[in-house]
Amino acid sequence: MVGSGIAGLTAALRIHAADPTLHLTVVTKDVLAAGSTQWAQGGIAAALGPGDTPEQHEHDTLVAGAGACDVDAVRALVTEGPDAVRELIALGTQFDHHPDGELSLTREGGHHRDRIAHAGGDATGAEIQRALIAAVERAPEIEVIQHALAVDLLLAADGAVAGLTLHVLGEGQHDGVGAVHCRAVVLASGGLGQVFSQSTNPSVSTGDGMAVALRAGARLRDMEFVQFHPTVMWLGPDSQGQQPLISEAVRGEGAFLVDDEGRHFMQGEHPLADLAPRDVVAKAITRRMIETGKPHMWLDARHLGPAFWEKRFPTILRVCREHGVDPVTELIPVAPAQHYASGGVATDLWGRTSVPGLYATGEVACSGVHGANRLASNSLLEGLVFSRRIAEVLPGELRAWAEPTVDSRPEGLVDGERRRPVQEAMTSRVGVLRNATGLAEALDLLGTLDPGDPEVEPAAWETTNLLAISTALAAAAALRTETRGSHWREDFPDRDDTRAGHIDSWLDDGTIRVEWTPAPSTDPSTTPAVTA
Ligand code: SIN
Repeated sequence: MVGSGIAGLTAALRIHAADPTLHLTVVTKDVLAAGSTQWAQGGIAAALGPGDTPEQHEHDTLVAGAGACDVDAVRALVTEGPDAVRELIALGTQFDHHPDGELSLTREGGHHRDRIAHAGGDATGAEIQRALIAAVERAPEIEVIQHALAVDLLLAADGAVAGLTLHVLGEGQHDGVGAVHCRAVVLASGGLGQVFSQSTNPSVSTGDGMAVALRAGARLRDMEFVQFHPTVMWLGPDSQGQQPLISEAVRGEGAFLVDDEGRHFMQGEHPLADLAPRDVVAKAITRRMIETGKPHMWLDARHLGPAFWEKRFPTILRVCREHGVDPVTELIPVAPAQHYASGGVATDLWGRTSVPGLYATGEVACSGVHGANRLASNSLLEGLVFSRRIAEVLPGELRAWAEPTVDSRPEGLVDGERRRPVQEAMTSRVGVLRNATGLAEALDLLGTLDPGDPEVEPAAWETTNLLAISTALAAAAALRTETRGSHWREDFPDRDDTRAGHIDSWLDDGTIRVEWTPAPSTDPSTTPAVTA
């Protein structure tokens, strides 16, 4: 298992439960809790509330995905989701409950029902991570290697997984590259937020799993569908790296967006106004920023009052105050920032990639559930459901131990100092609003980047990964000549269902190739929402 968030630890626990004789190793780049799961605020979506059904959850997921979802994957997500969440509760996760003992469920953008389970108010991910780590600690047979960056897969002569090289970030003589010989690898290493200058993702999200898969010959899918969260606290024009998220759940509880003149500009934009799907809100904010020349808009949540803020959003309240804004009495400055990769390593319904023995789950994967725009709070659920699915098939599919062959893949390590130019090219030209000129410039900048004189160190591996992933993303964005979901083209402003389908990227002798495969749109929004 590469990665230790909800996807990686669920896969480890479930595979261990399925076959306790297997030797399982979880490798993680930092400490177990350092990934994106820990930072998830809003919660986990599942049809658990009175009157809600998997069919309604499916409908909302398909509408948000703007025609690019895989219906079978979405069906697996929504039908297996409720049991998966119940299992998380049985494992010890303490979700918030009403005084009468009922699970407290809230609403976020794009959902027509209250179906988001949350914990500690706005600390859902931290509580899930705590419970999963505790469960792994109760299973000492699962080996855990922390501070180990996955560098590359070792491949057998037939191209199947034979092992994994790691850069272990120990001290002194323990720091260096080593290898694990294994029969299968599950990538659960999270997203690629650090491709952009501002992201809600933690610093570990450098697209490592996607780059490892790419170099091993796997296909990436729909990389252009990067979700920009509409309400990320704006900290100033020069702020870099992980930025504070103001959960959509704050709008779910009644907060609303206003411009500098106090105009509630989401009204009239969409029937769900401030709770429209995330891409709609991010686009409306960006449009208003362009129209007014302002670097951000405002979120007004003052009417929620101090007691509600303290109980429901203690983390966001603290973080806002640490940055000098008191949301109880002041407006919060917000602007869209990178939040989630809806694309990733292409998998089937059981997490299998195109490389035998390589599986992927969670944000690193493209299972097909998110399409062009992930529905809020579906990501933790995806990690849970698809890791459970991998655990169902992987033990029975293990191949014989194989010797790794000599690695003939082209080398191309990039100096860690090159991270900023990569991020600047991506942020300025492949961000919320894209066009052909900017995308071509980005591809040119990335393609001609001087790799420098890299030391063999983690910063260089990460920057190499960022460059590979950025190139795949920009190339896919250039090929998708339409606006769909979170992919917004200034020069192709409309959705074009003759362009529905998927864009795959892969490495061909060191060069990224991209290819569009048509598929019918899966957006049911022309039919009415399902109600019980
Ligand atoms: C949020 O709390 O707004 C983020 C939840 C998500 O990304 O699903």
